[in-house]
Amino acid sequence: MKFSKSVPLKGELTIPGDKSISHRAVMLGAISSGTTCVTNFLRGADCLSTISCFRKMGIFVEETPDEILIRGKGLHGLSAPDSVLDVGNSGTTMRLLSGILAGQNFSSELTGDASIRKRPMKRIITPLSLMGASIESIPGNGCAPLSIQGMPLSGIHYQSPVSSAQVKSCVLLAGLYADSTTRVTEPYVSRNHSEIMLRSFGADLITEGTTVSIQPDPKLQGQKVDVPGDISSAAYFIAAGLLIPGSEILIKNVGVNPTRDGILRVCRSMGADLSLLNEKEQCGEPTADILVKYSSLKGTVIEGEIIPALIDELPVIAVMAAFAEGTTVIRDAQELRVKESDRLDIIVHHLKAMGADVTPTEDGMLIHGGTSLSGAVLDSHMDHRIAMSFAIAGMAAEGETEILDSECVEISYPGFYEDLKKLSQ
Ligand code: S3P
Repeated sequence: MKFSKSVPLKGELTIPGDKSISHRAVMLGAISSGTTCVTNFLRGADCLSTISCFRKMGIFVEETPDEILIRGKGLHGLSAPDSVLDVGNSGTTMRLLSGILAGQNFSSELTGDASIRKRPMKRIITPLSLMGASIESIPGNGCAPLSIQGMPLSGIHYQSPVSSAQVKSCVLLAGLYADSTTRVTEPYVSRNHSEIMLRSFGADLITEGTTVSIQPDPKLQGQKVDVPGDISSAAYFIAAGLLIPGSEILIKNVGVNPTRDGILRVCRSMGADLSLLNEKEQCGEPTADILVKYSSLKGTVIEGEIIPALIDELPVIAVMAAFAEGTTVIRDAQELRVKESDRLDIIVHHLKAMGADVTPTEDGMLIHGGTSLSGAVLDSHMDHRIAMSFAIAGMAAEGETEILDSECVEISYPGFYEDLKKLSQ
């Protein structure tokens, strides 16, 4: 896919449903009683992987044009899959599902694509083993494929070394099958969609600072879930609106949960003209329309507590920083090395290929903005967020940018290129 300097982007856009919330709706729907009806479900490849795993465990999931219906079978209603569960590219599916599988009365095996088989699973093997689960990395390197023998679990208090919603959610879901209270403490608060949704399905959870406790064996009841738009997908249009002169975009119905809104805070500190309109709550999640107007940006510092609240947006934030005046410092972002690709290495490589002045560090980078960027041929490394971030860079830079393997956006945003095109017409 090729990109060149764009005309101003103007108009309204409704972006697809939140990926994290869509996954969780299927998972909780499957282990609840009754039917869960999900509207604005994200039909990206990752969430479809979650549906396909639950279908293999006997859950009936009906897809209509407007909604997804999950016929739940209760906490103990899953059946043993007759083949390996394939999560595709989805870390959320693998890590959250492992928590559920650890407490079943059957064994299972989980695998996925080449990227997921390189990602660290020790971070869930450790706490699940402490709960008494039998879970191992089949290749013995802490990575998938994973083999899980379900069994009764014990409640623990797990001090997670990483701020990761996938680790936290994995332990909380296993906690549903434990014999006593399960607690997770993380260094900084990560996205709390699991907590919000578990509560609305009837689980007993308490959040105190960076610790969440869950009681076992609740009566979970299927719900109606109307998924807010994904702020991680909105991020590309926020960046495009800010970077392309003359742009003004209204992005409708975006989830602005404070555990996810780091990009808004960073944009404001860079001098962005952003306003939140029509603020509401939808299924316990705050939402708003985001009005973004072209702005001249300045550098900022991004570190510490805010990192989990913008972890998936750092690639596109780095792109914005390259066009901003002054230096942007990104620290404490070592988690980016273990995402769908080593995003720190790839961001630095691609920004340099476009002519930016970037210095890599172990846990981030320094971006000296303001140099003029020019087009380049850039490999997405099959990482959806890299493809979308550098598509935006290509629309703000001089010359032509080509993104290789650009179709990987299917993972989280199937209509991404079409939506970009609509705004430029
Ligand atoms: C997610 C949590 C984050 C995020 C991922 C989705 C989730 O991962 O990067 O895209 O749905 O819980 P970590 O928990 O590994 O930080």
